[in-house]
Amino acid sequence: MLVYLNGEFLPLEQARISPLDRGFLFGDGVYEMVPFYHGIPFLFEEHITRLGRSLQALDIKNPLTKDQWKAIVHTLSEQASLPTHNIYLQITRGAGLSRQHQYEDGLEPTVFAMVTNMRLLSDAEKQTGLRAVTVPDERWQNCYIKSLNLLPNILAIQQAYVQQAYEAIQIHQGYVTEGASSNVFIVKQNILFTPPKTAEILWGITRDFVLSLARKHHIAFEERALNEDELYDADEIWITSSGREVVPITRLNDHRVGDGEVGPIWKKINASYENARNAC
Ligand code: PDD
Repeated sequence: MLVYLNGEFLPLEQARISPLDRGFLFGDGVYEMVPFYHGIPFLFEEHITRLGRSLQALDIKNPLTKDQWKAIVHTLSEQASLPTHNIYLQITRGAGLSRQHQYEDGLEPTVFAMVTNMRLLSDAEKQTGLRAVTVPDERWQNCYIKSLNLLPNILAIQQAYVQQAYEAIQIHQGYVTEGASSNVFIVKQNILFTPPKTAEILWGITRDFVLSLARKHHIAFEERALNEDELYDADEIWITSSGREVVPITRLNDHRVGDGEVGPIWKKINASYENARNAC
């Protein structure tokens, strides 16, 4: 597999970084995931803008221009074995001279990119929906930064995995924040709800796109805090992410969501999402 590392395209086996890299030592860096459908990136501008915002929040200079990022993602995409995939982009603050917590000025960021698989739903999963479990949100207060520090997210998804669930929905002080690697929507009486863009969640690109589709289809929506009870009381629950698109959750812990069937509003939005990304 061909990957990109610090200005070069090379086989994965030949890619080397310093053990003093602050991404390796401290998780000091950020990442992005750009979905590609048949050679075309979907919502590329939005992903690169968010990457810039994450870098700025950590005081790391964006090492590349938008056109340079574009050239990298296209070159990697051309080498991908499957027509639909993600391009993973990672930037760390770089390698210091020793392991010290504070960073010196002028470090050279480490830039890494590679193709990763997309996990799209099977037809059977689209018929039945999937199961999610709830877990406490144990993360820091700046989840709008797409940071490499994913330990709480990893422990959350692992809890879901051992319970044979597809996603972990995180609850912070009684309120829904987001999935381990997705945003959360509910439908109640034909109105779509999703938590607002605060620092407690990642400002999902798919989330925003889904809201634009709701607007287009005249589906009423509200961005507001959702308490845990509203999850159990929802007619529909969905989770969204670039790698997984819009996924219907029909079981929450040991409860049915609504009538336990995939809901009509999901069907409408999902069809519209699939049309948009096929046309991109
Ligand atoms: N994750 N919230 C979290 C915590 C996420 O990690 C992600 C995406 C999302 C959805 O964001 P978007 O719609 O922009 O993909 C929300 C990526 C795909 C990942 O970590 O693999």
